[in-house]
Amino acid sequence: MSFKQKAKKKFPDWPVYDDNEIKALTNVIKSGKWWCGSPEVHQGENVWKFQKEFAKFQGAKHCIAVFNGTVAIEVPLLALGIGLEDEVIVSDYTFVASASAVVATNAVPIFCDIDPNTLVMNVNKVEDLITDRTKAIIPVHLGGNPVEMDRLMEIADKNNLKVIEDCSHAHESIYKGKYVGNWGHAGTFSFQASKVLTAGEGGAIITNDDKLSDLIYTISDCGRKKNQYGYSHYIYGTNYRMSEYQAAVLLEQMKKFPAQHKLRNKNAKYLMDKLNAIDGIHVMKPTPGTEMLGWYIYPFVFEPEKFGGITKLEFYKKLNRNGIPTDDCYPPLHGLDCFKNIDLRKGIDYSNANWGGEKSNDNNFPIVSDIYSRSIEFPHEMLLASKDKLDFIVDFIKSLK
Ligand SMILES: Cc1ncc(COP(=O)(O)O)c(C=O)c1O
Repeated sequence: MSFKQKAKKKFPDWPVYDDNEIKALTNVIKSGKWWCGSPEVHQGENVWKFQKEFAKFQGAKHCIAVFNGTVAIEVPLLALGIGLEDEVIVSDYTFVASASAVVATNAVPIFCDIDPNTLVMNVNKVEDLITDRTKAIIPVHLGGNPVEMDRLMEIADKNNLKVIEDCSHAHESIYKGKYVGNWGHAGTFSFQASKVLTAGEGGAIITNDDKLSDLIYTISDCGRKKNQYGYSHYIYGTNYRMSEYQAAVLLEQMKKFPAQHKLRNKNAKYLMDKLNAIDGIHVMKPTPGTEMLGWYIYPFVFEPEKFGGITKLEFYKKLNRNGIPTDDCYPPLHGLDCFKNIDLRKGIDYSNANWGGEKSNDNNFPIVSDIYSRSIEFPHEMLLASKDKLDFIVDFIKSLK
């Protein structure tokens, strides 16, 4: 059978749903309780139930559900007092939201280069970026791969910095015995359509700090306080609440997650052994100390000279044309137009940032720039495929030599 014929065997679709999601949504509509209400006066029950279950799922004391993963980062930044022209160190290799949430609070993101093997924030480079304006760090567990959180927390504690873990890719990733999101002051999640746990849109914040949890709730629900009159608004806050529809779908998706997570991890290891055995292919390396990976994306880096000088675009097109779903990895943040042109928020001084104009030159971020120029990723649903499809990918990549 030719590669083209074999590729006609379809790879799994995402999201995966059945009648249970449809029933859960219909139940919300029929109940007439279309929002969650307040902590004291529940309307619908789905958001309250989801918050409890997700906290347990991720091994945390508290969960506050919000409507997407971007505001999930913004709210704890506000709750931790990050604001005007404070500097926040963020990985350079991530989706724009990890940094745009910082910009939304009028603070300034500072980009940190990555480790060439694990592809996450290089903790060795963090201390060099700390100034007297630095107030927080946002490690991003890219593709579910944990940042070295024990070392990062030592640096944060020594310098009195807050840490918000962006766990949008890292549902149930475990680093050194602890679920990610529990190492820092807060952990944030996305349930956007492509994520391993999804309701199309959605987000959550976890924390183990009672006071911080209350403050995060207050900011995410119009400045209200628990147990107080609902038209009292104590501090700045706005409406970031998750909807009953999102929570109803997420509760069903959580039931499907354990089997999917197990299969993704099993197949990720199978594929990693086979791909790494090809001279010139390097799959993202799990950070030493990782016990389980969320595997939202499956990035690999190739050495062009081992494939006859192939470019990233050619590699990518060949995979896609042959029916293998692939995607570009994230363009490093320092080179995005919004940062290069410093066209961000009115009245904010970005002149001390390590990006903007000439400072956004790739030479200033050598590792991430090199890695981006020769990395490609598979979506996580690929890891739900049968072994013969995984073997097909391996054989196809070998055939490009
Ligand atoms: C690393 C990372 N952080 C934050 C987000 C933002 O999540 P959302 O799309 O739910 O706002 C995403 C979304 O893709 C992400 O990949």
